Amino acid sequence: MKVTVVGAGNVGATCADVLATREIANEIVLVDIKEGFAEGKALDIWQKAPIIGYDSRTVGVTSDYARTADSDVVVITSGLPRKPGMTRDDLISTNAGIVKSVTEQVVKYSPNAIIIIVSNPLDVMTYQAHLTSGLPREKVFGMAGILDTARYRAFLAEALNVSPKDIQAVLMGGHGDTMVPLPRYTTVGGIPVTELIDKATLDAIVQRTAQGGGELVKLMGTSAWYAPGAAAAQMVEAIVRDQRRVFPVCIKLEGEYGIDGVYLGAPVILGKNGIEKVIELQLNDEEKALLETSRGHVKEVMDALDNMSKASA
Ligand code: LMR
Repeated sequence: MKVTVVGAGNVGATCADVLATREIANEIVLVDIKEGFAEGKALDIWQKAPIIGYDSRTVGVTSDYARTADSDVVVITSGLPRKPGMTRDDLISTNAGIVKSVTEQVVKYSPNAIIIIVSNPLDVMTYQAHLTSGLPREKVFGMAGILDTARYRAFLAEALNVSPKDIQAVLMGGHGDTMVPLPRYTTVGGIPVTELIDKATLDAIVQRTAQGGGELVKLMGTSAWYAPGAAAAQMVEAIVRDQRRVFPVCIKLEGEYGIDGVYLGAPVILGKNGIEKVIELQLNDEEKALLETSRGHVKEVMDALDNMSKASA
C-alpha cells in the first residue's frame, strides 16, 4: 500500500511517523512546498526504523507530485495553523487556495486515491476538496471526530481515573465550538458514563472538549499535532487494512439526520472503499437542536467559501 501525506509540518510529519512506526503502509511519501523540508523529515523517520524496528519506507519530496502517483490513500494536512485569538474559520481564505491546488495535484497523479482532509477549517476544507476533486463523498472526507472524541475520552479517563482504552464515545457536528459530544452514547467498559460521573463534571468535560483545540493553541502558540496526526493515521489504517472501524468522520450528509449537502461529523463505518456506511443515531430533541446549531454554523462558512470562489472566478 502506498500512502501520501501532503504537508510535512507538525501534523503531517506526525501522521507519517505513526504510519511508518506502526507499519500501516509499506511506502509513505511526504510532500511539502518548502525545499528539503519533507526530505529531511522523511529521512529522520527512516533513520528511526532500525532503532524502533519497522520497515515502512518513508521518502520526502518537494512539490514533486509525480512521486506520489498511484497512492491508495492521500492525507492533506497543508495550510496554516491558527494562532492564539484566531478561530479555525479565520484560516479559510488562505487555506482554501492551498487545499484546492494540492487536491488538483493529488487527483492528477492518484485519481483512485481516497482523500482524507486535515486542514482547517476542517469541514469547509473537506467541502473544498470535494468540489475540486469531483470525488464522491465516500472517497473524500475529513478527520476531526477521532481527534475530538480522543480529547473527550482522555478528559473522562482522567476524571474517572480509568484507562482511556475503555472509554467508547461518539461525537457529531462541525469541528469547532459547536461540535456535539454525545454523553448518552458514551460508555466506560460498557457502563453508561452517566452512571459513573456527576452531571456538572460531565458538562464541564463536554465544554472543554468543544474548546479542546483552542486550549492547546493558547498553551503552545500554535495548533496541536500529536493527537491530530495519530488520528489521521488511524483513519488510514482502517482503510488500508479494511478494518470496518466505526468512527466519527466529517462527511457530506445526504439526507441523513434530515440534513442535505452539509459537511458534518457523523459516525460511519470506515473500510477499504472509504466510507462504507453512514450510521444514523436516534438523537433526542436536545441533541437534534445542538446538531442543527452546528449545521447552521458550518453552512455559513461553506457559503462564505462559495462566495469567495464566485468573486475570484
Ligand atoms: C485541533 O483541533 O487541534 C485542530 O483543529 C487545530 C486547531 O487549530 O485547533
